Amino acid sequence: RTLDDASDLAGKTALVRVDFNVPMEDGKVSDDTRLRSALPTIQRLRDAGAKVALLAHFDRPKGQRVPEMSLQPVVDDLERLLGAPVRFADDCVGEAAKTAIADLDAGGVILLENVRFHAGEEKNDPAFAAQLAALGDLYVNDAFSAAHRAHASTEGLARLLPAYAGEAMKRELEALDAALGNPVKPVLGIVGGAKVSTKLDLLKNLVGRLDRLAIGGGMANTFLFAQGIDIGGSLAERDMAETAREIIAEAEAKGCELLLPIDVVVATEVKPGAETRTVLAREEIGADEKILDAGPLTVEKLVKAMALSRTLIWNGPLGVFEVPPFDAATVKAAQAAGQLATSGAITAVAGGGDTVSALNHAGVVEQMTFVSTAGGAFLEWMEGKPLPGVEALRA
Ligand code: 3PG
Repeated sequence: RTLDDASDLAGKTALVRVDFNVPMEDGKVSDDTRLRSALPTIQRLRDAGAKVALLAHFDRPKGQRVPEMSLQPVVDDLERLLGAPVRFADDCVGEAAKTAIADLDAGGVILLENVRFHAGEEKNDPAFAAQLAALGDLYVNDAFSAAHRAHASTEGLARLLPAYAGEAMKRELEALDAALGNPVKPVLGIVGGAKVSTKLDLLKNLVGRLDRLAIGGGMANTFLFAQGIDIGGSLAERDMAETAREIIAEAEAKGCELLLPIDVVVATEVKPGAETRTVLAREEIGADEKILDAGPLTVEKLVKAMALSRTLIWNGPLGVFEVPPFDAATVKAAQAAGQLATSGAITAVAGGGDTVSALNHAGVVEQMTFVSTAGGAFLEWMEGKPLPGVEALRA
């Protein structure tokens, strides 16, 4: 159910779960992407004459009132972006919250203090969810990036009030469906990042669903090692070699072409401007050398695979992109994806942790079809797991 299904909103109070778990530096919001993504829902509800009470978490205070984890610093930025006043209540339940909401005019907006200051939030305690529910007439979940948590404000509340997906949640679910649920084939996946162990479920799910899967970053080293390739002093999970071989076999059995690096960039130290060598993956690498990026032949092969695809789903960088020159493969591949997406040749969807920073670094975020603001939720969705916050909206 989306906001299209909600009628007669005038004068009602909408409890809107947003994800304002934003990066902060010196007490100031340093990246307002998540604030901006909540604006369409807030504006739509205001236009319909509803009062908007925003529920959100910040960081992990573990049920304690931790002053440094207050949501108060978000208010100024939200007011600026919304172009309207935003009030703040220093508790998300109880009399203070109730009175502050009652004082709002139709179309007024209030941000309630960090829901995780209450232990009942993460426990999905029904009594705490009922306290939240008492504050509003309807519930809108616009926080896809927190939907992998079965917490009171992401899951329990949806069962107590008429519940709807907000605009950002709806866009996110549509884009993800176009990438993995119901994609136009052939589908190519790019999965990078440091460790196989953190992305095991994801890799297993993807080999069963994709036509091609490119593996990059530190985890590719584990796959090369598993194939008996000398990876010198590279970062790898050598104890995961057997698992990597199982994934290779599963991909073969399921007709998913695995693309592993065919050449790599090696160096003895990870520092800006370090001296590098580009070698074929099968060539010898010194015990003091580390694989830090994919090489140009690998990128060329990857770009060809993109051109053969109609859908691309990307999670994780191909090298140590934070330290140039080890950003080269990620940047080149991202730019190719951006161009293909802009021309309409492919639907390109990306998300999860470092991915957004890597695409930002490559300057292609705007060119991708969709970039998810979610970290953990995006990964769990790629793993094929049901997300409690989404499931509760379907119930
Ligand atoms: C995120 O930043 O990924 C979400 O806000 C979830 O935060 P959490 O991992 O603390 O639940």
